[in-house]
Amino acid sequence: MTTHVSAPRRHFELVIAANRLPVDQVTAADGSVSWTRSPGGLVTAMDSVMRNRDGAWVGWGGEPDVDIAPLVHESMYLRPVALSAAEVEDYYEGFSNDTLWPIYHDVIVQPSFHREWWRSYIAVNQRFADAIAEVAADGATVWVQDYQLQLVPRMLRDQRPDLRIGWFNHIPFPAVELFAQIPWRRSILEGLLGADFLGFQRVADAQNFVRACRRLLQVTTRGDLVTLTSRDGSSRTTRAAAIPISIDFQALNQLSMSPAVMDRARELRHQLGDPRVLMLGVDRLDYTKGIRHRLKAYEELLQDKAIGPPDVTLVQVATPSRERVEAYRELRQQVETTVGRINGDYSPIGSPAVHYLHHSYPQDEMAALYLAADVMLVTPLRDGMNLVAKEYVTCRHDLGGALVLSEFTGAYHELSQAFICNPHDIEGLKETILKAINTPAHEKARIMRSMRRRIADHDVHRWASRFLEALASAPDHPQRAERPGRRGVLR
Ligand code: F6P
Repeated sequence: MTTHVSAPRRHFELVIAANRLPVDQVTAADGSVSWTRSPGGLVTAMDSVMRNRDGAWVGWGGEPDVDIAPLVHESMYLRPVALSAAEVEDYYEGFSNDTLWPIYHDVIVQPSFHREWWRSYIAVNQRFADAIAEVAADGATVWVQDYQLQLVPRMLRDQRPDLRIGWFNHIPFPAVELFAQIPWRRSILEGLLGADFLGFQRVADAQNFVRACRRLLQVTTRGDLVTLTSRDGSSRTTRAAAIPISIDFQALNQLSMSPAVMDRARELRHQLGDPRVLMLGVDRLDYTKGIRHRLKAYEELLQDKAIGPPDVTLVQVATPSRERVEAYRELRQQVETTVGRINGDYSPIGSPAVHYLHHSYPQDEMAALYLAADVMLVTPLRDGMNLVAKEYVTCRHDLGGALVLSEFTGAYHELSQAFICNPHDIEGLKETILKAINTPAHEKARIMRSMRRRIADHDVHRWASRFLEALASAPDHPQRAERPGRRGVLR
């Protein structure tokens, strides 16, 4: 059960910091306040990691200009960090999502560089560092998440040398040629090098980071170790390695086996007209996800009469995301125009070619959709991991279904038995979709079984313990500095 009570101040041995809290505060027009789960795979993954630990989570409550007192949510201590409306524009929508996001995703759209956004990024990162320092016990482990908080490790190290500090990048880390465009590239690298351990989704991401340090900071690197020497002559070493994130296989597998979810899957298929082939896409509405490429391939398949409703239909769930950033607005318009055109051109009455849903759904409904779908289309142009791919496989305890997976996802490196595509190659994508439809069921079951084994063995709990072990044994293990004036503090 969810409870939200103001919590007395405490100190914790484990502190997670992420841009968002696991729940967003939503204030309705009448002033009433409610809480909803925050979007994205990060929250889902970290939520299951934190569930049985006595830890604190530091993050933004999701609304501008709202100062929330610390609270307890599902027995987790939440320490909100307030952001002003200007900071939401400059730090979150601006620097995080209009500068870093496009650079870190291969410049699919042009990044914007603004000095005031950078200043805001520094100010907000400092606020996060201060909030973490406030709740972290002596010698605590701090796990910072993602690209929004890259300056936090250094800022935190400066005021709390006693802490073990780790950072995990949920998105790709770009090649140095792209990273080098950022005017503040050195500060970002130095910010990260305040950590003991840096985790990345792929080996290539960790290597890109190490290469960027070598080229842009002229520091010494040895394998996955980077040593930074400060102006005062002291040096410290940070390790950068790949530890790919995963999902809670057991929990989701069980949910998908529940009679309610299985009934709902059947009901969904029936509501969709019992198609022979149900195809599904589930994404945040983001230009990195390759939704336009997917729709183009689908539209051409309809045009070629290779497939068509009511025999085949596509459900596209597009979760609203970053709607005030121009590139996201444009994408929404393009996707919705395309969906309208496809339906206008190819749908008979009562059987839309595309069912477009601009919503987010609770986990049980998603599990039912996954279970109902014969072909899952995961076609990003670049994606750190893509947990939707892993969720789909996890829900297919019946060994049914087929996963079409882009080679530009982190997931590809673990699930390469899937029906692999290059989403830029529309002809190739069309062929892969047809192959996923037409491969015999027993062959698809064999592929699904092997992918399920991989995820079951490498679930989110294993990911978290691997990360925390790597952090605990990170290279520089200086004597834990004694913090002045912290004795007798309530933990
Ligand atoms: O990992 C990518 C990420 O930006 C996460 O940090 C976040 O939880 C998710 O995508 C959703 O993004 P946002 O918080 O900007 O809605």
